[in-house]
Amino acid sequence: MRIGLFDSGVGGLTVLNSFLKYHPNNEYFYYGDTLNMPYGDKSIQELYEYSKKIIDYLYSKNVDIIVIACGTVSANLYDILKKEVKVPIYSVMSELNNYFKEQKFNKTLVLATTKTIDSHVFKKIVEKEVIEVACPKLVPLIESNNIEMVDKVLDEYIPQNIDFDSLVLGCTHYPIIKELIMNKINKNVKIIDMGEILAKRIKTQDSFKKVDLYFSKRTEELNKNVNNILKNM
Ligand code: DGL
Repeated sequence: MRIGLFDSGVGGLTVLNSFLKYHPNNEYFYYGDTLNMPYGDKSIQELYEYSKKIIDYLYSKNVDIIVIACGTVSANLYDILKKEVKVPIYSVMSELNNYFKEQKFNKTLVLATTKTIDSHVFKKIVEKEVIEVACPKLVPLIESNNIEMVDKVLDEYIPQNIDFDSLVLGCTHYPIIKELIMNKINKNVKIIDMGEILAKRIKTQDSFKKVDLYFSKRTEELNKNVNNILKNM
């Protein structure tokens, strides 16, 4: 099966990595829009235009399905894109409603981009109490591989005086810094990786393994990140 995935940059590679883990024998076409990264502070109109351009690129690869491997586009544009796109399209949040129905969490912390938090999409997904925190500084730091600063900045975002039993990595870039986040929270907190949940639950028709990566802007940091993230290649 030919599967197209897209994100603003390397974040969606965490989703691709999960797909490679559960469905290795597929043809994957990935588009990282590093030229326009970060998406988290863009207008909905801009996000729509970027997404449409990327979807056209994925059509040119004859994909059978498209996966929006970006939390920001998923939160703000999934309903619109679903109506317009010619092939089945999934968002990285598509399975979260079902997942939360099955779990018994009491209080969930969501870390995500400003645009995702402003959409309040997680208020609809998480049935119990939800604390939403926008983390605008994280994506550019992750893209530039500035792990030291990521560690510092996380202290601004993770609330220290509130107990929570679950934490959603509400941006697909955040699984890259999962270990750093885990070091700052209670060990019993369940960490929720959206791409992992989607990949585990989605059905694919296996063919053969192929991975085609395209980025709208290439840098040296990007090449390093790609190799670090795609552990299941
Ligand atoms: N990885 C994306 C997300 O899940 C985009 C983040 C950004 O570019 O700001 O939201």
